[in-house]
Amino acid sequence: MENRIHPSILNCDISALGSEVASISSADAVHVDVMDNHFVPNLSWGLPVVESVVAGPLPVDAHLMMMDPDRWAPAYAEAGCASVTFHLEAAHAPVRLARELHRLGARACLALKPATDIAPVIDLLSEFDMILIMTVEPGFGGQPFLDNQLAKIARTRRAISEANLDVAIQVDGGISRETIERASEAGANVFVAGSAIFRSPDRAGEIAALRSLADH
Ligand code: DX5
Ligand code: ZN
Repeated sequence: MENRIHPSILNCDISALGSEVASISSADAVHVDVMDNHFVPNLSWGLPVVESVVAGPLPVDAHLMMMDPDRWAPAYAEAGCASVTFHLEAAHAPVRLARELHRLGARACLALKPATDIAPVIDLLSEFDMILIMTVEPGFGGQPFLDNQLAKIARTRRAISEANLDVAIQVDGGISRETIERASEAGANVFVAGSAIFRSPDRAGEIAALRSLADH
């Protein structure tokens, strides 16, 4: 399965959003974190900012850390996000929502916090294009990678292979040159990296380095 690098713009220079997104144009998509201050203890931005990123050069991977995604996520698909990720812990009807996102032309992705087990949704994997296994508690950039999520990544990859499905596994949180190989070996193939890329003065070089470590 092809590896993909999705920089998270959560901690970029927001006053220069256009050039910040342009600086990561060698990535596969831009990961945009939407936080509602209820599902997570932090507030970021909403639809108007996401729409302005959609108008830029990269496909948008929207990560919705919000309550009641059943109500709000479809608008992100309508806004032109290539994929819309919502949290299992917050969704009322994840299958219905995934089908609605597909109907609106977006890929549907299901996210799990570190304490959430994959087992209850193993039979639902075929409804999704991607599973996001959080490798930090969602809410903030710059936290250390949780090695205790590697077993869950491996379990999820095994279940996807056994069912002969084409479902990507995304990891988000603490991904860097030090951790990306472990996540890749466990079975992840879509890598979100915020601080590793945006703290680097050479974004293209950092993206290339992460890509080659993941491909290894
Ligand atoms: C955290 C967000 C992440 C965050 C990752 O809840 O979902 O996308 O930006 O940042 P790093 O790569 O710094 O852990
Ligand atoms: Zn994220």
